[in-house]
Amino acid sequence: MAEALDAEPTRVAARRLLEGLPEAPTILDVGCGAGGMSVLFAEELAAAGARIVLVDATEHLLAEARRVVGAAAGDKATVETVHADVADTRLLDMLPPADLVWASRVLHHLPDQQAALDILARLARPGGLVAISEGGLDFNCLPWDLGIGRPGLEERLLAARGEWFAEMRAGIPGSVSMPYGWNIALQQAGLGDIDSFGVLIHHPAPGPDVLREFVVERVSWFADVAGDRLTAGDRETAAALLDPANPAFLGARQDLFLLGAKTIHCGRRP
Ligand SMILES: C[S@@+](CC[C@H](N)C(=O)[O-])C[C@H]1O[C@@H](n2cnc3c(N)ncnc32)[C@H](O)[C@@H]1O
Repeated sequence: MAEALDAEPTRVAARRLLEGLPEAPTILDVGCGAGGMSVLFAEELAAAGARIVLVDATEHLLAEARRVVGAAAGDKATVETVHADVADTRLLDMLPPADLVWASRVLHHLPDQQAALDILARLARPGGLVAISEGGLDFNCLPWDLGIGRPGLEERLLAARGEWFAEMRAGIPGSVSMPYGWNIALQQAGLGDIDSFGVLIHHPAPGPDVLREFVVERVSWFADVAGDRLTAGDRETAAALLDPANPAFLGARQDLFLLGAKTIHCGRRP
């Protein structure tokens, strides 16, 4: 659902990353998930002969990624999958040198983000581009006053999710802090021409049906991870918003929207 909602604005980013690559580039999509970005890469390739290598630690996502990226690539690119852990230094022997190394929202899952970025940098061939999507602006989806419970629920869900995230990171075995921003991390990985750009994701209300489904899933996940960090009143409100039999059910609202941004940080291997 997220990929369906992100696809058009993210396509502009895919085009921008492909600009200046050789005509038949080798692209690594590391932590590819269900393959949404590589579908866009495949669709935006200017010519045949490219090689797209999808890497992920979750087998069922990798299988789905192969299916959708293969369909999008047709005869334009070969699509391969590699089931691996990004933190594994053997990755360097398992993957071909790439013109573009893409890693979206995967580094923050790893115990040592800088060490993982160092590996990604070495996966690029000299002159190759490393682009990561991390950070940006959280999605906002809900009206401030939902007509049930205390107004401002989304801000409290986001704050609770922020605390959960910090605990999740601290709880990863071998977790190492990275007390600086991604531009510095790219620099420390030995990359040059450091740059970043934003992708605005905006679906004004009422948006497509998938938007309502997405918001229901998102609030459900937030309520789960927030747990006891929410007051009993907010937990009750969230339960009513997620109950299809309740008049307050989010999935029936016509005033949900999606507004947020992704940041893409890039560096080039000298
Ligand atoms: C939040 S999803 C992002 C998926 C996709 N790149 C995107 O931006 O939509 C994180 C992905 O990273 C994968 N992942 C998490 N830890 C990993 C690891 N150590 N090695 C390889 N993949 C990992 C997960 O299986 C998941 O597909």
